[in-house]
Amino acid sequence: MNAPQRIASPTEGQLALADRLAHGGGRASAGITHVSAEAYTSPARHAAEQDRLFKRLPLVIAPSALLPEPNMAVPHDGFGKPLLIARDKDGVAHVFVNVCQHRGTRLVEGSEPVCAPRLICPYHAWSYTLDGTLAGLPRPDSFPGLNKADFALKRLPTVEAGGLIWFAFDETADFSEARALGDEFWAFDLPGQHLFRRRTHRVAANWKLIMDAFLESYHVQRLHAQTIGKFFQDGVSTGDMIGPHQRSAVGREADLIAAAQGDWPALRAAITYTYQMFPGTVLIVSPDYINLMTLMPQSEREVLVEDFMLIPEPPATDKARDHWERSWALLDAGVFAGEDFRAAELGQEGLSSGAIERLTLGTLETGMRLFHDQVEARL
Ligand code: FES
Ligand SMILES: [Fe+2]
Repeated sequence: MNAPQRIASPTEGQLALADRLAHGGGRASAGITHVSAEAYTSPARHAAEQDRLFKRLPLVIAPSALLPEPNMAVPHDGFGKPLLIARDKDGVAHVFVNVCQHRGTRLVEGSEPVCAPRLICPYHAWSYTLDGTLAGLPRPDSFPGLNKADFALKRLPTVEAGGLIWFAFDETADFSEARALGDEFWAFDLPGQHLFRRRTHRVAANWKLIMDAFLESYHVQRLHAQTIGKFFQDGVSTGDMIGPHQRSAVGREADLIAAAQGDWPALRAAITYTYQMFPGTVLIVSPDYINLMTLMPQSEREVLVEDFMLIPEPPATDKARDHWERSWALLDAGVFAGEDFRAAELGQEGLSSGAIERLTLGTLETGMRLFHDQVEARL
């Protein structure tokens, strides 16, 4: 949804990371540490993570740009329950359980957005407005005394902030950090972005292996040698935490970073900022577009990753469209699927073999250390 105009200016935290990069980067580290291989292979561990993290904490489900207009809805099935992300006629976002209140039929089929002022159940045509209210039913005389107000769609707690839609399965979840992160994302005009493409990848790996790949820059010059490695300075990275979430910055051009102090567009061109929202969301801010990835664990050895590519405005010409298509192909198919997700699958293969008992982390992998500490603290 296009948000009211607000000037994109950096937060103090974003500037502090830029300043650290200008001085070579780095972050405090405890030296060599370890993560147990079982954390990636144990079904009991997967069940505990579902219970303590994914069923309890606020989760990012989609960028606001997935629903750019009022009266839109998109089914979402990755989190183990049929969900429906909706924007009502007043522009307010909701996450509902995608189930009719009459006899429990799935309300909206498929996974593509629908635009309509009412959602009509395919079975007996009970109809709901996009704020979840039961608007009407055929032959109401056959339900004597029925109070429509008792038959609204089940709504889960939902918050939209800074261009992201968050929800939680737990009615008591605390969204204060989700709201605070919203200010970070205004700096990149996330609320004003246009959704160019989205794709869901099924990856044969534990979800944490995907997070790991976006929590350290050690691999960038190696795994990504043929694609984006050349854009980055080896090991010129830094990061910090916002609650349980992480904010990282990787240097593209050392000289530019120093020269760009005070010039936000120039800094954005010289630095790639990424955010790892706990437990399972990654936001990568390239100089001219943004990728959002939501992780949906299916088992201890399988995860769905939905990749959304966001651009500043809809492409106006074929040339502009070609340009974005090339960026999409490079990142989604080339870098993510072809390199990061492949490395995660190779990691799962190796760890599942039982060949090593623990993984070893160096000082360029501090982000991973902090992430695993956050996971373990909640189990
Ligand atoms: S189950 Fe939906 S209208 Fe009957
Ligand atoms: Fe990577």
